[in-house]
Amino acid sequence: MARNLTHDMLARPNHDERSLQQFTLSLKDYARDRMRNRNADVYKNSAQPRFISEHGRPPESAREIESVMCQEPLYQMYSRVQRNGQEMMWSSVADTLEREHGRLSSTYKMLTEEGRRSGSLELNPDFEPPRAMAEVDIHLQPGGYCLDTGPDDVIAGAFYEYGGNLYALGRGVGVKESKGEVAIRFFKERFPDMNPTAVLDIGCSAGSSTVPYTQAFPAAEVHGIDIGPAILRYAHARAEALGAAVNFHQRDAAATGFADESFDIVASHNAMHEFSQKTTEAMMRESFRLLRPGGVAIHLDVNIRYAELDAWMQFHRGWDQVNNNEPFWSSYATNKPTEMLVSAGFPEDRVWEEKVQQLDGSLHWFIVAAQKPR
Ligand SMILES: C[S@@+](CC[C@H](N)C(=O)[O-])C[C@H]1O[C@@H](n2cnc3c(N)ncnc32)[C@H](O)[C@@H]1O
Repeated sequence: MARNLTHDMLARPNHDERSLQQFTLSLKDYARDRMRNRNADVYKNSAQPRFISEHGRPPESAREIESVMCQEPLYQMYSRVQRNGQEMMWSSVADTLEREHGRLSSTYKMLTEEGRRSGSLELNPDFEPPRAMAEVDIHLQPGGYCLDTGPDDVIAGAFYEYGGNLYALGRGVGVKESKGEVAIRFFKERFPDMNPTAVLDIGCSAGSSTVPYTQAFPAAEVHGIDIGPAILRYAHARAEALGAAVNFHQRDAAATGFADESFDIVASHNAMHEFSQKTTEAMMRESFRLLRPGGVAIHLDVNIRYAELDAWMQFHRGWDQVNNNEPFWSSYATNKPTEMLVSAGFPEDRVWEEKVQQLDGSLHWFIVAAQKPR
């Protein structure tokens, strides 16, 4: 199934919008492939010697490296182009979504009509999203995850999927396998005899990782939770457009409200790096509580572990925290999710941490997983 790059809920750019979007992708490629490579030379030949002459020693941490690199004109230019590329990408998507707004809302209504839909949507008007999410436009997505302008609004979800596709392409991520499919492949290889009948995807966003579970396990009831109402409306309609029966709910990863032992798989994809440490710990406790005996938690995310990187690479990979509104990036890169799983109740010998390569070889994902004792 891979990443679904066509369906009725996906925004359709016109010629001029597509051109601008292609331009922003090229600009991002240029910054990533051509400009970024020069940063190491700038550091070695200029920033590091300057730091040494001022302090009598080389920089020892990413923060110290940042303090000198930020004064380098070439780094400033690279960083400005990266940031501009990201802003331009979102504004080029906004042009399409503004024009497509009416079509997307009416397609949402049509696809999710009673009698037609196979899945469901449960929104909670009293839901209070975590402040850290409601008040920050994560990775500069306009309006953030909680943007909601009314009962048929789906724009936050459309932004996430359509902008997210461009974002991933602009980072060289392949399209052959979705994150959900990577996690499912991991699960099937490790637990070939299990036949899950209930699956939960936490922080499901537009549902692009959730839908593959309906295809991998056709007999399973599949649920997705997120905090954004318009994201969830979009996810619901998107799943219906793809013929997938998914039940979406507006609930918090830290306190999901489902009954104990409701699921055989509790998963999350690309969500931990946007959660606070407190939320991630609570999600691990929820994973243990929600799993049936023998059930499996799989949490997949960006492959970035600062303990494996030197100070230069930590600085290099930490750009998003400072410049792309990723407030929990370094907290994620330094946390210990396997220890969190053990503290949540999983036995140490049933907890795993792995790097799993996407089938097209474009990148590795970091996976932490655990099985609840039978
Ligand atoms: C990067 S997106 C996840 C992407 C998605 N799982 C996928 O694979 O395409 C992170 C999502 O987590 C959601 N989120 C943030 N905090 C949350 C929380 N406390 N509980 C549930 N969802 C949350 C955000 O609204 C956002 O949609």
